[in-house]
Amino acid sequence: MCAGQWRLRGFPKWPIIGASIAIAVAAAGVWLFGQLRLASAAPLGVQLSASAQRGQQVFQLHCAACHNTSTHVKYGPGLAGLFEPGGPLLPDGVDYGGRLPNGQEINPASVAEWLRTGGRGQIGVMPPVGLGMRDTEIADVIEFLSGLKQ
Ligand code: HEC
Repeated sequence: MCAGQWRLRGFPKWPIIGASIAIAVAAAGVWLFGQLRLASAAPLGVQLSASAQRGQQVFQLHCAACHNTSTHVKYGPGLAGLFEPGGPLLPDGVDYGGRLPNGQEINPASVAEWLRTGGRGQIGVMPPVGLGMRDTEIADVIEFLSGLKQ
């Protein structure tokens, strides 16, 4: 009798609690899925690698006084598109045929060398800024530059 009463009054609660938990878990799942999609979709093209992030700071410290990350000339040319075919956009009348001012093909190794030697071109003189930089800083700044598109 007592057990029967308990069952009658108690039993129907379990499906309700069970359903509530199921709904809560499903809602949390939907929310989490949305967050994960946001996290993976939004910043993909924008997020810099750890190396490029360090390179951005190196750039601010050692290059930004003379170079923009756009196509606009500051003292030296804007470095957007440095590693794209044709190289960066140069001022009117200056043409290195898609190469560095010293005639080297533009690739990570030749840019690293250019940073260490500097040089004179038709625009002006770039000092050997790389001489004061560690190898890792040069690698990082090149990684950063390789992400700059025109
Ligand atoms: C004191 C100013 C100055 C600083 C600092 C400087 N540069 Fe330059 N850079 C120049 C000038 C001027 C030129 C253009 C030389 C020319 O073509 O006459 C140049 C040219 C270049 C070029 C060749 C672009 C081309 O024509 O393809 C690259 C690459 C470059 N700089 C990278 C850097 C990086 C990276 C840094 C920092 C680590 C840096 N520069 C720091 C002045 C500077």
